Amino acid sequence: MNRYAILANPGHNRIYFETALKIAVSELEAIAGAYDMEINEIEEGNIGLPASICFSTNRELKKEDFRVLGFSSIFYALFEIVEGDLLRPISVPDFHTFPESMVQILKYAGKTNEQFTRLMVNLALSACNTGSDKITLFDPMCGKGTTLYEGFIRGFDVKGVEINGIWTQEIQTYVVRFLKEGRYKHKAQKSKQSDSKGKKIANIFSLTAAAEKADFNAGNVQTFELFNADTRKANLLMKKKSCDIIISDLPYGVQHGSKNDKDSNMSRSALGLLKEAIPAWYHVLKTKGSIVLSYNEFTMKYDDVADVLEENGFKVLDESPFNNYLHRVDQSINRNLIVAVKG
Ligand SMILES: C[S@@+](CC[C@H](N)C(=O)[O-])C[C@H]1O[C@@H](n2cnc3c(N)ncnc32)[C@H](O)[C@@H]1O
Repeated sequence: MNRYAILANPGHNRIYFETALKIAVSELEAIAGAYDMEINEIEEGNIGLPASICFSTNRELKKEDFRVLGFSSIFYALFEIVEGDLLRPISVPDFHTFPESMVQILKYAGKTNEQFTRLMVNLALSACNTGSDKITLFDPMCGKGTTLYEGFIRGFDVKGVEINGIWTQEIQTYVVRFLKEGRYKHKAQKSKQSDSKGKKIANIFSLTAAAEKADFNAGNVQTFELFNADTRKANLLMKKKSCDIIISDLPYGVQHGSKNDKDSNMSRSALGLLKEAIPAWYHVLKTKGSIVLSYNEFTMKYDDVADVLEENGFKVLDESPFNNYLHRVDQSINRNLIVAVKG
C-alpha cells in the first residue's frame, strides 16, 4: 500500500473554514472515482505540514495520476509518505494550457472564488460522461468570467452568457490584453445575433487562441465565446447539445433583468430566474453532460433547486461525493452547490 499527502493550498481553510477537510475529501473522492484511481483512508494529515490531507492507494500512482491530483482545488504540493514519516516531494505535471495567472489576476467585488470555481469544474468533470475528446464548458451567468478563465487554462472550449454589458466588455478587454501580453496567438471577432423576429438578442465576442504557436498555425485552437444576453435565451444562441458541462455561480440576491427587456423589468427571485432559464440550459447540454450550480442557501434551498432540475429532465446526484458542500462564506451567504446530469 502507498500513502500520499497533499499539502493544502493556504487559501483553502480561509474559504471553507471548519468544512475545509470534508470538502477536500469529497472532491478527492469524486476526482479519484472519475479517473479510476482507487484511494482510501483519506484523512486530515498529522504529519508536520500546516494543513494537509493524507490518503492511501493500493497501487503506486503514476505521472498521469499525479497530473489529475494536481487538478484538485485543495492542491498545493504532493508528497509520498515513505519509511513511516518521511515526505518525498513529487513533481506534479502541469495540467493547464494557459497559465493559472489568467484566473488569478482579476480581483473584484462579486468574483466567485477561484478555488471554489475549480472545485465546481472538478465535480462537473467527474459527473460528466459525454466521452468528448475536448470539453466544452458553458457558464450561463458568467459575471466577469472566472469560470471561463478556469476552463480556458485547462484546455477547454468555453462559452459564457452575461446580461451585464459592462462586464462582458471588461472580459473582452482583459482576455485580449492577457493574450497579447503573453504573446499568445489569437484571433478575435465581434458579431450580433437576432431572434426569428429580427430583434437583437446578443452581442457576441468570439476568440480562438492556442498556448503554442504551432498549434495555432495548425488550427489546433481553443475557442472562447461570450454572449452579452439574457441567459433565458441561451437556446437561441448556441447549438442544441453543444456543451459538455455547465457551471454557474447563481446570483446571490434578487436580480433585475435587462432594463430593455419589458417582461424582465420586474424583480425576480434567483429561483424564479433559474426556473425560467433551466430549459434553455438543458437544450444546449449534451446527453450525459453535467451541471453544477452554486447558490446561497439563504435565498434558495437545495431541495428547491433539485426540484427545478428534476422537473426539467436532469438527474440530481444527491449522494457522496457529490453532495454536502454547504459552507459559510459570510453573514449573508451560506454557499452550497448541486450536481446533476442529463440522462
Ligand atoms: C454570482 S454572479 C457570477 C460571478 C462570476 N462567477 C464571476 O466570478 O465573475 C451572477 C451573475 O449572473 C448575472 N445575471 C443575472 N441575471 C442574468 C440573466 N438573466 N442573464 C444572464 N446573466 C444574468 C449577473 O449579472 C451576475 O453577473
